[in-house]
Amino acid sequence: MMRTDSVFLKACRREPVPYTPVWIMRQAGRYMKSYRDIRSKVSFMELCKNKELASEVTVRAAEQLGVDAAIIFSDILLIAEPMGLKLEYDTPQGPAIRGGISTKEQVDRIPEVRPEETLAFVADAVRLTRARLKPDLPLIGFCGAPFTLGAYLIEGGGSKQFVRTKQWIKDDAGAWHALMEKLVRGLAGYLKMQVAAGADALQIFDSWAGCLSPQEYRDYALPHSQALIRAVGNKVPIIYFGTGTAPFLKEFASAGADVIGVDSQIGLNAAWDIIGPQKAIQGNLDPQILFSTPELIEQEVKKILDQADGRPGHIFNLGHGILPATPEENASALVEIVHRLSRTASGK
Ligand code: CP3
Repeated sequence: MMRTDSVFLKACRREPVPYTPVWIMRQAGRYMKSYRDIRSKVSFMELCKNKELASEVTVRAAEQLGVDAAIIFSDILLIAEPMGLKLEYDTPQGPAIRGGISTKEQVDRIPEVRPEETLAFVADAVRLTRARLKPDLPLIGFCGAPFTLGAYLIEGGGSKQFVRTKQWIKDDAGAWHALMEKLVRGLAGYLKMQVAAGADALQIFDSWAGCLSPQEYRDYALPHSQALIRAVGNKVPIIYFGTGTAPFLKEFASAGADVIGVDSQIGLNAAWDIIGPQKAIQGNLDPQILFSTPELIEQEVKKILDQADGRPGHIFNLGHGILPATPEENASALVEIVHRLSRTASGK
């Protein structure tokens, strides 16, 4: 079978499929023993920058789970380094970005990101992973959305209230937009590089978009996601994922992506009504459900499949990344359940 005819890529294009494709956000990660074993020997950053190891964890997670797509092992924050900022992962508070930015002058001094020069290790990992994966299994490349990355750079790490970011946006919208435009240029090249190296689809993670009001999203985030998606073009399907996006899902869907990733705070059918039938949808099982039993997981999967109602263009996934304490066997059970129930539903 040709990879372009895989259930995952067909669903991205809203073509009919014999069963619902499924993959899991953060499918290669700490909930997996084989991942923890590798991480006990190397730092997270080394893992990302070593193509052998990055491709090993990518391929292993996809094969162990039996998912319909692999996602390259990397991280949305790696782009901070070529922007001249210091990135640290092994802090108790999670990833930290030192030397953060706070003024217009600093934005102007941030170098333009030239991904072929400074993020070539990601292209190398994509190429090697593509060569090692089963030929018919699609590989997803990814990056952070301009807003989410901008917020990360300004906060210097994760945040609950995004006080500094929101202050910045209000006090100096010009500097904010300049930062966004610089990010968009770097990210567009970064995504195109991943496609040239063999990525079959792309996902843009706007994980923090939900901290914005609909008006703020429209004014300060949407135009830049739109510019990024336009700049990348339509060579491969683009998935645009966010959390907390229910209050402005229509605007979110207008960014131009082919597939919209939704979290668990809105029903899949309600989300699809808002997004409209011209787009595919990805989601949206609550990651917490994977802490229960296979019987309960099956009930919840069925609810989501019932809402999708056999419409072409549904890619099953969690509403957010899989949690580190998830029992490994429940992740595999999820994949088996989605395949089995969706096959029965379509009578095949
Ligand atoms: O398997 C995959 O999905 C591919 C790899 C992947 C990672 N991060 C690996 C990772 C992907 C797609 C990401 C995206 C990412 N990174 C996002 C967007 C998705 C989301 O969950 O909202 C964000 C916000 C980040 C930033 C980031 N990286 C955080 C907040 C953390 C620490 C806390 C956490 O969630 O794990 C990381 C580190 C990180 N990135 C780990 C992994 C497997 C854990 C590192 C470890 O091994 O200790």
